[in-house]
Amino acid sequence: MNLVITGASRGLGAALARQWAAPGVDLALIGRDASALAAVAADCAARGATTRIALLDVRDAEAMAAQLLAWDDARPFSLVVANAGVTAGTRPDGGFEGPAAAARVLAVNLQGALNLVEPLLPRLAGRGAGRIVLIASVAAFRGLPDSPAYCASKAGLWGYGESLRALLGPRGVGVTNVAPGFFESAMSERFVARQPFKLSAEAVAARVARAVQRGHGRCIAPRRMGYVLRGLELLPPWAVDRLVRLFRFKVSDQG
Ligand SMILES: NC(=O)c1ccc[n+]([C@@H]2O[C@H](COP(=O)([O-])OP(=O)(O)OC[C@H]3O[C@@H](n4cnc5c(N)ncnc54)[C@H](OP(=O)(O)O)[C@@H]3O)[C@@H](O)[C@H]2O)c1
Repeated sequence: MNLVITGASRGLGAALARQWAAPGVDLALIGRDASALAAVAADCAARGATTRIALLDVRDAEAMAAQLLAWDDARPFSLVVANAGVTAGTRPDGGFEGPAAAARVLAVNLQGALNLVEPLLPRLAGRGAGRIVLIASVAAFRGLPDSPAYCASKAGLWGYGESLRALLGPRGVGVTNVAPGFFESAMSERFVARQPFKLSAEAVAARVARAVQRGHGRCIAPRRMGYVLRGLELLPPWAVDRLVRLFRFKVSDQG
């Protein structure tokens, strides 16, 4: 198995790399933090995998395409995982996300994922094999009041994945849309609020790996968090808005 993961330097991306690391597996790891990426690569190598690293910003479409195609020339990818993500949020003092932070969230979470997938699509389809995994969020199912741009980015990514799966299925390429609830990571540490049904990053990674192995089109982890947020959509807008305000969380910082 030859795979590429964005945002592999920590959190879920690192947990996924370690989860899949094994003899016969080649991992191409993308991130910006050189020492953190090197540490993840060393862990994966200790588990018998071979690794390739690139220090790239997923917003840099040109550099991403050049690196991905060079890697794919040398060893064609069978698994492509768009995981890199950032948050912004309305501030505890009541401030809004602001135009710059909102644009950055969309650029990394949505355009950044497309910058990974789009250059490889013709090759995957041409080979008639492979799988694309998109790490969205349960925030894709229902906008939450403290992070409108983040929710928009994840809803967009979810929609992209649903479309791709229908498009690529007959061409032999699978798509797994992933919607995690809260899990332990640097990102979730910045939310100042209760985080119901919280999992470890390793537990989410194990569920994603299982979904990929079974060829599932969707992976919601934990499922009950998905049921709650999807179930809310059955209510009228005034009622659901009132309810999600109760779950309101504060994003204490951006990153
Ligand atoms: N944590 C949660 O509760 C939660 C819940 C639902 C969904 N998610 C989603 O799960 C994914 C992973 O989140 P996490 O909690 O593991 O986050 P994290 O610990 O903050 O890690 C984010 C990763 O994304 C990378 N990244 C950020 N901006 C980047 C950029 N411009 N270019 C390249 N890489 C970039 C970071 O690497 P560098 O710093 O090295 O660039 C890092 O490896 C995200 O898409 C997130 O939205 C998280």
